[in-house]
Parts: sequence; structure tokens; C-alpha cells
Amino acid sequence: APLVFSGMQPTGSLHLGNYLGAMVNWIEMQKTHSCVYCVVDLHAITVWQEPAELRHAIRQVTATYIAAGLDPKKSILFNQSQVSAHAELAWIFNCVARLGWLNRMTQFKEKAGKDREQASVGLYAYPNLMAADILAYRATHVPVGEDQKQHLELARDIAQKFNNDFNKEIVAAGFEDGIFFPLPEPVITGPATRVMSLRDGTKKMSKSDPSDLSRINMTDDADTIAKKIQKAKTDPEPLPNDEKGFEGRPEAENLVGIYAALSGQPVAAVLKDYGGQQFSSFKKALAEVATEKVGRIGAETQKLMSDPAEIDRILADGSARARAVTKPVMAKVKDIVGFIRS
Ligand code: TYM
Repeated sequence: APLVFSGMQPTGSLHLGNYLGAMVNWIEMQKTHSCVYCVVDLHAITVWQEPAELRHAIRQVTATYIAAGLDPKKSILFNQSQVSAHAELAWIFNCVARLGWLNRMTQFKEKAGKDREQASVGLYAYPNLMAADILAYRATHVPVGEDQKQHLELARDIAQKFNNDFNKEIVAAGFEDGIFFPLPEPVITGPATRVMSLRDGTKKMSKSDPSDLSRINMTDDADTIAKKIQKAKTDPEPLPNDEKGFEGRPEAENLVGIYAALSGQPVAAVLKDYGGQQFSSFKKALAEVATEKVGRIGAETQKLMSDPAEIDRILADGSARARAVTKPVMAKVKDIVGFIRS
């Protein structure tokens, strides 16, 4: 049966890129699929996290999930470290994946920077844990932003190699087609699969950008959002009349894409309304849809954060349900690999 899995790191608050690139699809897929949505705290500690801040961020990301429209009764919402299958399967995948595969990961190269000797081993093995997240549920669909595409390809390679390496045992375990792990499909769709920085249309909107003006946080208030959009970098030309007019104009393309995603329209429809107009008037309209949507989610997040015990209860409930899904999968994995269990 199809199953959706995805996750976000609790490193600070979420931003508009996380929301438009991934979470909008998460919310939509709840209508048609069984879904598991994770707060990936094990991934977060691949770079140093102050413990008290991490604890706060796990709750805040969970609150934003719910505020944005993820339903903890319907979908499984939980934090990764409460379900030991993730770390266990990641270890097995450390022994399936090849050094050469991980050496190609562009995100590791970016995050490790120049002083690679000082990067944590966890940062390097990060994509194996991500593959374990997905495959511990034998999930089939993974809604993410464009930047996760390479990690998803690695997860597929790991699933494939596991299926090949253990073919005999997998068939003996009753999987006649030899497919124990499905090859998970990335779901990367919508007008905002890669939201760019508001200060530089060639750079991804990211939590790690030192300038807070580069991103809209899901916890920003209306005034802050309006100010950031007003200050967003543009060029002096009016908005183009069609998508070909974005050539060499990454900031224009980004702002129009954000508007399209926030208002639920195709980019072409937005250009029909605003093509030929100046950025000043378009930015007012953009600030309006952004403050409406993000403001509502931010206010609801605040409200949920006033009761941290309730958030912890939701995570405990989701974790118990997640463990129930992973338990039979891990039992089979251990049998297939040749471990003894009691
Ligand atoms: P993370 O926490 O960096 O980002 C969470 C999600 O937001 C998307 N995203 C963006 N989309 C569009 N434009 C942007 N500027 C932008 N920035 C972030 C990401 O693509 C992602 O979908 N490794 C993952 C977390 C993860 C995961 C998983 C995802 C761990 N295990 C298993 C899927 C399945 C990450 O660091 O995402």
C-alpha cells in the first residue's frame, strides 16, 4: 500500500521555503494517503545544537506542523529519536551504502565547508539515516523540496542494493518478487519547489543564511513579513508578461513563484494579472497574501506553544504509532540480514 514519509529538521523555526516547498504537499497528501511526518532531531545534531534550544525547536516545529494543517489524529506526527528503528536501520545502511556514494553528496560538501576534518561523522552519514527514516516504514512517496533530490536518489540506491544483496533471504521470507524495500519516489511538485533568498535570487532560502532579511520565518509577525518583502531584492524592470521573461531575472521569478504558491494559482495566471506592472504594487499584493497565510500559522503556533505538555503528549502518541509500524519491518530486516532475535 502507498505510504508517505517526510521530515524536517528542528534547527530554529521553519521558513517559507520549508512550507511552500514541502509542507503544502504534505497537507494535501493527507487527503489521499496514510502519512508519517517526522521531526528529525537525530539529523539536527549532526551539527552542534544547544540542548535547551533543540528541545524548544522540536516543540515549535511540531506546533507549526499542526498549525499549518497536519492532523495528528489522522497522520503520524512524532520526533525521530523516540523511535529506535531509525538509528538501528541507519546502522545497517551504513554497511550497505558505499563511501563512493556518500562522497558525491553535494549537501555534505556545502555543510562541511573547507575544514572537512572537523565535520562530524554524523554529518557524513546523514543520508543513510534519511534512507532509514523512509524505509523503516517501507514508504513509497516522499514529498520534499528540490534540494533533497540527491538524498532521495541515494535512498533508492540503498533500497536497491539491500534488495540485491539479500535477494535469497528476501525471497525465502516470502517476498517472491525479491522486493523487500520499495524504491521511494520523490514528490517534488508545485510552483515553489526551490524558494530562493529574498536578498539574492541565486541562493536558496535557508535557515543558515546569516541575514534574517533573506527569509520569511513561519513565526514572523505581519510587520516583519511586510518589511522583508518591501526590502526584497528586485530589478528595475516591470514584471514580465510570461515565464520566458524570467530569463536572467531570478528575483522576479522567485517572488512571482512565491505569490503563485501562496495564492494557489499557476505562475502564468499571476503574470496575467501583474505582467507589465511595477514591483512596488506587486510587492503590496504579495505582502498581503503572505501576512494572511503565514500570520495565521504563526499565531496558531504561538497558541499551541503555550501548552508544551500537550505537544509532548502528541509526540508520545505519534511515536507509539510509529513504533508499531516499524516493529514488524525491523523484525524482518533482522531475519533477512541473519541476526538472531528473541
Ligand atoms: P530540511 O529540514 O532542510 O527541510 C525540510 C523540507 O523543506 C524543504 N526546503 C525547501 N523547499 C523549497 N525551497 C527551499 N528554499 C527549501 N528549504 C528547505 C526541503 O527540501 C525539505 O523537504 N534531510 C531533510 C530532512 C529529512 C527527510 C527525511 C526528508 C530527514 N529525513 C526523510 C524526507 C524524508 C532536511 O534536511 O530537510
